[in-house]
Amino acid sequence: MPSATTGFWTPVALSRDLPAGTVIPARTAAGSIALWRSASGRISASADRCPHRGMRLSHGFVRGETLSCIYHGWSYGQAGNCLRIPAHPGLTPPETIRVATHDVEETDSVIWVAVGTPASKPPKLDGFTPLRSLTAFAGIAAIEAAAGAKANPDGLVEIEASTGTVCLLLSAWEDGQTLIHVLLKADTDPAAGIDASRAAESLRRQAEGLQREIAQ
Ligand code: FES
Repeated sequence: MPSATTGFWTPVALSRDLPAGTVIPARTAAGSIALWRSASGRISASADRCPHRGMRLSHGFVRGETLSCIYHGWSYGQAGNCLRIPAHPGLTPPETIRVATHDVEETDSVIWVAVGTPASKPPKLDGFTPLRSLTAFAGIAAIEAAAGAKANPDGLVEIEASTGTVCLLLSAWEDGQTLIHVLLKADTDPAAGIDASRAAESLRRQAEGLQREIAQ
């Protein structure tokens, strides 16, 4: 996967999996985040821990342009600042109450979150159509071994399905698992999606088998 001393972008989710007004958990090599899209469509990536009592913000809810914690309802804006404390409706929350945020970009129907401070924008994935995401209990090295190919600098590995080439976009987690986004080439017949999905699942099984052998 791409890396640099200043930081890198990691593909945490597909756009289709984050409709407006929702929050989902996501992960990067730096830890857990609450990924949310406001009612107007703006995406934010917040640390997945409420500054009040530590509840996971990915268990919360989105109202309008804010993310609220499920526990006591503290609400946060896109920049991470606390906007409202329901138990103290007349109080303007101090600036010091804020949740850490990460830079986020949405491009080519993929949502990328920055780990550190990347020197450039996320890679372009022109010519691909995202299909689905799946999690592998295997590291990138095991996935590359199963695929018989190395990931390119953008984190893409190509595998062959019976209906054509399928691209896998890889994102490593801190616990050794890998999130795999399955991408179809734009000129692929959409009906090939089932075949591509099966090919990705087969590769995952192989990679997980290799990972178990490595661990023994
Ligand atoms: S723990 Fe989040 S509002 Fe209390």
